Amino acid sequence: MRPATEDDARLLLDLRNDPDAVRFSGGRTGVTPAEHREWLSTRLADPSTHLWIAEQAGDAVGQVRVDVQDGSGTVSLAIAPSHRGRGIGSAVLSAMVYEMEHAGDAHTLRAMAHVENTASIRAFVRAGFHRRALREGEFAVLERTIGREGGTGHNQVDIDLRVSRYPGGTR
Ligand SMILES: CC(C)(COP(=O)(O)OP(=O)(O)OC[C@H]1O[C@@H](n2cnc3c(N)ncnc32)[C@H](O)[C@@H]1OP(=O)(O)O)[C@@H](O)C(=O)NCCC(=O)NCCS
Repeated sequence: MRPATEDDARLLLDLRNDPDAVRFSGGRTGVTPAEHREWLSTRLADPSTHLWIAEQAGDAVGQVRVDVQDGSGTVSLAIAPSHRGRGIGSAVLSAMVYEMEHAGDAHTLRAMAHVENTASIRAFVRAGFHRRALREGEFAVLERTIGREGGTGHNQVDIDLRVSRYPGGTR
C-alpha cells in the first residue's frame, strides 16, 4: 500500500464511478471528473484523511480511505472489478488497520456497507470489524477498535493475516 497522490485521480474516479460502487453508495450517483478533481485536492490536503492505493505486482488495484474525526475513522474501500474476489479487499483492510495503528489519530474504525453488499461486509468482518445489531437504513454498521487504548491491538489473527496477505494479498 502507498499513499495516494494527484496522479491517482483517474484510478480513483473509475473506482468511484464503478457500477457496483455506485449501486451500493449512499447517493447512488456517479461524480464528474471536475467534481472528483476538486474533491481529491481537498482530501489530499486534509491531514485527517488517510488515502492509500493498493498495488499488486506494480499495478494499482484498489483504494482505501479513512476520514478521521474526533478519534473515529470512517473507512471507504474499493477494489478494481478485474481484481475482486481474490482476497485483496480483505488484505487491504488488514493493511489499513496496521497503518492506522501507527498513525495513532483514531481509536475506532467504522464502515457502512449496504446490507446486500455481501463481499464488503465479509471483507470487513475478516479484518476484525464487528457488525452492529442496529443498521442505518439500508446500511450495516461495522466497527472495530484499534491501538492499545482501543483494547484489541495486534492479535495473532491480525498478524497472520498481515503476514499471509500483505503485501501480496492473494490466497
Ligand atoms: C467490496 C469489495 C471491496 C470487496 O473486495 P474483494 O477484493 O472483492 O473482496 P475479497 O476477495 O477480499 O472477499 C471478501 C469476502 O467476500 C466474499 N466475496 C467476494 N466476492 C463476493 C461476492 N461477489 N458475493 C459474495 N461474497 C463475496 C469472499 O468470499 C470473502 O469472504 P470470506 O473471507 O468470508 O471467504 C469489492 O467487491 C468492491 O470494490 N466493490 C465495489 C465497491 C464497494 O462496494 N465498496 C465497499 C463499500 S462499503
